[in-house]
Amino acid sequence: MKIDILLGLQWGDEGKGKIVDAISPDYDVIARFQGGPNAGHSLEFNNVKHVLHLIPSGIFHKGKLNLIGNGVVIDPSVFKKEIEELGPSLNELKDRLVISTRANLILPTHRILDAAYECQKGMTKIGSTLKGICTAYTDKTSRNGLSAGDILRADFNDLYNSHRERHLTILKNYDLKFDLAEYEKGWMEGIEMMKNFRIINTEYLVNNLATQGRKVLAEGAQGTMLDLDLGSYPFVTSSNTISAGACTGLGISPLSIGEVFGIFKAYCTRVGTGPFPTELNDETGSTLREKGHEFGSTTGRPRRCGWLDLPALKYAIMVNGVTQLFMTKADVMSGFDIVRICTCYKVDGQECAEIPYGIDAVIDPVYREMEGWKQEISGIKDYGKLPSTLKKFIEFIETETGVPVTMVSVGPDREETIVRR
Ligand code: GDP
Ligand code: IMO
Ligand code: MG
Repeated sequence: MKIDILLGLQWGDEGKGKIVDAISPDYDVIARFQGGPNAGHSLEFNNVKHVLHLIPSGIFHKGKLNLIGNGVVIDPSVFKKEIEELGPSLNELKDRLVISTRANLILPTHRILDAAYECQKGMTKIGSTLKGICTAYTDKTSRNGLSAGDILRADFNDLYNSHRERHLTILKNYDLKFDLAEYEKGWMEGIEMMKNFRIINTEYLVNNLATQGRKVLAEGAQGTMLDLDLGSYPFVTSSNTISAGACTGLGISPLSIGEVFGIFKAYCTRVGTGPFPTELNDETGSTLREKGHEFGSTTGRPRRCGWLDLPALKYAIMVNGVTQLFMTKADVMSGFDIVRICTCYKVDGQECAEIPYGIDAVIDPVYREMEGWKQEISGIKDYGKLPSTLKKFIEFIETETGVPVTMVSVGPDREETIVRR
């Protein structure tokens, strides 16, 4: 059985959590492949909103296995808090969640170092979530990381202490106040919490299950434009958010990939700094932010808002091999007289088919104006009943990208999802 991937095509927060939860009934396994507690995946059912950071978004469905893959970086203190806030009992969750031995750990000192490096950055401040993502992945790639599998070793405390000392030596160069003992207490409790779960070689598990015909959904975090290699570097995260990241982050072969579901909002948002060609610093941007509740699920920061950016979307479709598009949040744009879609960029006055390299390029978006949709659409269950202007908007995106929009989300609840047959 082929493994499907679901990932974000913009700058994160496209609605991945909501959609993964909505389609989980079709799968046996939901596997997160990268990122860490920088992610905030929201989902809603029975009028309750849940925000997940590390735990895959299939966790609320009984009988589904959720897997934290080797590409994820885990902060044990965040993990513990998340488990405790979930709802189902620990006993129940134990059978539903497994952790890769190879997933690297975020140490308390990684978080402090993240803050130290970010303070130092000046003009190129990333607007990091300060969860220790960049420093944990840096230790991983420099072969200095501590992994979930190490928790099971008898000398784990010694290992931890040697990493801690190494980090504290670096931190001596920074004038930063921190209470390490307080962080460490929660972290060690988190380590104990992790021991309640199976910490195993998930690359075997996921491949074996797929071979046995079980359906696996790989869940991405962040978005394509935040990819370490192909995003708006250096304003990116520290992992591969694209479909290739599912292969490295779960230990699966490219040949095992089936569908690649790409999620995008009907407009764009970005948290933190970095280029955002279609950003709206006006009333329309504020309306999108207020109506769309565009405030970070992890940090609470206001998200920057702008019109849909087709050059960026086409780029994301290209680098991910997207086979189906899922569009979210068109309901937020209800009531606009006109809506805009950026169809190409002008760089130094010249039309440019590619996303320019470098952060200094001055990009002028070229827009196509379309008639908006006036009515509220959240109650609509059937694609045919959507306003004709919205259907034209969707069909325009399909024509431009050559990829079908097979799902339209019209609200945050799992029920507010239209599958187009
Ligand atoms: P993720 O990181 O991709 O999972 O997205 P976030 O959860 O960070 O942000 C998406 C936000 O939009 C959350 O508050 C969701 O509850 C909400 N949401 C998701 N889909 C829709 C939709 O179609 N309409 C509306 N109005 N809200 C949505
Ligand atoms: P989900 O999975 C939106 C952004 C941060 C910052 C940059 C680097 O919820 O879509 P990091 O903490 O990774 O060093 O921050 O990336 N960022 C996100 N933006 N959604 C996310 O995740 C994000 N994770 C990181 O704001 O600009
Ligand atoms: Mg999010």
